[in-house]
Amino acid sequence: MGLAAHEQHEEAEAGDAVDALLGGYWRFHVLGAFVRLRVPDLLAEGPTTAAEVSDMLGAVRPDVVDTFLRCASAEGLLDRSGDGWYSANAVTAALCRNGSHATLALTLTAPGACRPMEVLDQVVRHGRSRADLVFDGDDLWTYYRRTPHEAAWFSDWMQEFTEPVVDSVLDRYAFTGHRRVVDIGGGNGTLLRRVLAAHPDATGVLFDRPEVVSRAGAVFKRLGLADRVELVGGDFFEAIPQGGDLYLLKSVLCDWDDASCVRLLSRCREAAGPGVPIVVVDWVRGDGDSPVHDMISLQRLALNGGEIRTFGHFRGLFEAAGLELAVLDRPTPGTTHEWEPATIMEVVDASPWR
Ligand SMILES: C[S@@+](CC[C@H](N)C(=O)[O-])C[C@H]1O[C@@H](n2cnc3c(N)ncnc32)[C@H](O)[C@@H]1O
Repeated sequence: MGLAAHEQHEEAEAGDAVDALLGGYWRFHVLGAFVRLRVPDLLAEGPTTAAEVSDMLGAVRPDVVDTFLRCASAEGLLDRSGDGWYSANAVTAALCRNGSHATLALTLTAPGACRPMEVLDQVVRHGRSRADLVFDGDDLWTYYRRTPHEAAWFSDWMQEFTEPVVDSVLDRYAFTGHRRVVDIGGGNGTLLRRVLAAHPDATGVLFDRPEVVSRAGAVFKRLGLADRVELVGGDFFEAIPQGGDLYLLKSVLCDWDDASCVRLLSRCREAAGPGVPIVVVDWVRGDGDSPVHDMISLQRLALNGGEIRTFGHFRGLFEAAGLELAVLDRPTPGTTHEWEPATIMEVVDASPWR
């Protein structure tokens, strides 16, 4: 017996829904190529033809460039006139170099962020990152060390991502009176730079992997902060610089599994010593459903074994590392977005009070 009309209709709608999801495949890859080829910057000069774009790119086949630009215009990334001229629209402008959308698109569509997600089925099955399967046995950070241009995109994006959160953190946490602030896994120093700029008496230590801190130096120099910061490269699971009177860990714990977090927090406790605050800034999920947090959590797991945790989960990690909570400050609802890691948790060595 054939399907009733309403069942045929539902089946067709379900098929359309699947096709719409699969359409993401084309859009995602066209977007990635569009930003990597820097087409938005080429178009900033004014309308142009596929042949000219091909010349500017040094491409081998202008006809392939034209096909690509037609695909990109079909996805709304630029405009195409009937006589084959291409021009920038508002989406193209949003994807110009140095904009936050461009850095996010560069980072997410590049192999470092993409390839571990290709094995999401394995991640779900095994409950851990399988980046090793796609990076020849390496983890994400080793992959980035081998691929400096992608590491630079990641750093640029982290900067764009961290900048808006910093305002909220500076408003809500009293950095005054801290003379030596150590930013652990501080990336290119977005948070530390802003702390130093707001507190002229403070000095800072930016601690990250050696290849990351060496890139960050130029930015501190440009801002006139070079003489107030020490750049230290190393592995935060091994040893962390001592002598700080405040330690920062922003968007770091969300990258790691529980055992790694406890190791890292223990290293922080040893370096900080009794009574010296360690300030964790991260995502903390509430009890309600949050599709945004679910997606980011799965991505954290796929890329490096991390996740978005509840406050209770964090407390367990702090206790396991011999730390106790001194301050918990969640952003006021509506002042930050769900995708911004903005909860502040200050923890201190618990031992003096035991
Ligand atoms: C998600 S980024 C956060 C950067 C910065 N805290 C921010 O919020 O903008 C995580 C940082 O941890 C650093 N990292 C990863 N593994 C590390 C290790 N073993 N030792 C030191 N830093 C590490 C990465 O290089 C990266 O800069």
